[in-house]
Amino acid sequence: MKTLIDPFNRKITYLRVSVTDHCNYRCYYCRDEDHQTNTVRNEVSSYEEIAKIVRLFSELGITKVRLTGGEPLLRKDILKLTKMLGEIPNITDIPISTNAHLLAPMAAKLKKSGINRVNISIDSLQQDVFKKITRGGDLNKVIKGIDAAIKVGMSPIKINMVVIKGVNDNEIEDMIDFAINKGIDIRFIETMPIGSAGIDTSNNHYSEADILKRVIDYLPNKLINVKADQTSGPAKSYLIDNTNTSVGTISAVSNNFCKSCNRVRLTSRGRLILCLGQENSVSLLDAVRGGMSDEDIKKLIIKAINNKPERHYFDTNIYNIENAQMVEIGG
Ligand code: GTP
Ligand code: 5AD
Ligand code: SF4
Repeated sequence: MKTLIDPFNRKITYLRVSVTDHCNYRCYYCRDEDHQTNTVRNEVSSYEEIAKIVRLFSELGITKVRLTGGEPLLRKDILKLTKMLGEIPNITDIPISTNAHLLAPMAAKLKKSGINRVNISIDSLQQDVFKKITRGGDLNKVIKGIDAAIKVGMSPIKINMVVIKGVNDNEIEDMIDFAINKGIDIRFIETMPIGSAGIDTSNNHYSEADILKRVIDYLPNKLINVKADQTSGPAKSYLIDNTNTSVGTISAVSNNFCKSCNRVRLTSRGRLILCLGQENSVSLLDAVRGGMSDEDIKKLIIKAINNKPERHYFDTNIYNIENAQMVEIGG
């Protein structure tokens, strides 16, 4: 099997596939209040097209494919896609990032179709705050989704909390207790200035140093350093002594982790995005629909990887990514 190596000697093994740019939530750091998704059906890659692109990536060394959105569980017959991806040789990990609103009734079937783990966004444990952040989300449904994922034996289950100063930062300790009680992992995420919604939320940035201080004060002498495993992504995590829970931070702004980047992204319209923080991309869907041969599509992918940017510039130049909306990229 080949390997994809970019000009900065990073091995690319992880593809994040956004299956839809629609979402049933409207988290205010992710998309503007009036943001509309007006992608028409024909512009979105079909499951056959996604599976074909993933197969070509797998032949180039990709082993992990995360399904993202918008909200991936909104896409009709998503189990059909998970099954198709599960049949591609060398793809050994197919996790999903979801807001869990629709997860409870689907968890058992997803697990059966080969989805062994999920990451779930939950930014508050208070109904009113949750509703405000998600602009209308239903906390009870999300908690039911988490419980269902636990019940069917998905593991690890990671909850993602975007920490926003003055909005939910007072819930860091409650969220740790929640994760410990459920026996799942928790990651605290710094807001990233992506798109106008993300840039606006940066005014309420809560830094990794502040998050860690709170975590250490709450769990003195209880944090055990863990080596990053293959599911750890950009998170820095600690196991909490005597629990099944790890607590981590994802801090793209305070602590640039681009040096160890191992991923690229495919949007629901079939564009390959080389870096979350930069706009250069290439349409693989056009190549597939234009009848390009498999070998030539793989060459196109290799050429794109050769143009993968070295890093994002969230810290110094946030405005170069003003036009993107996170909901369209899938985080
Ligand atoms: P694991 O594979 O379980 O570690 O997941 P993950 O952290 O790769 O994925 P998830 O979808 O849960 O993303 C968690 C947070 O990390 C989100 O806020 C993402 O936007 C962010 N994130 C994921 N990949 C990158 C990346 O390459 N760069 C930056 N800056 N942020 C990322
Ligand atoms: N900054 C940080 N994280 C974000 N996400 C969406 N928008 C942003 C942002 N501006 C996160 C979601 C979800 C993940 C896929 O991306 O909370 O956990
Ligand atoms: Fe939807 Fe996730 Fe964006 Fe919230 S963060 S609006 S749940 S895509």
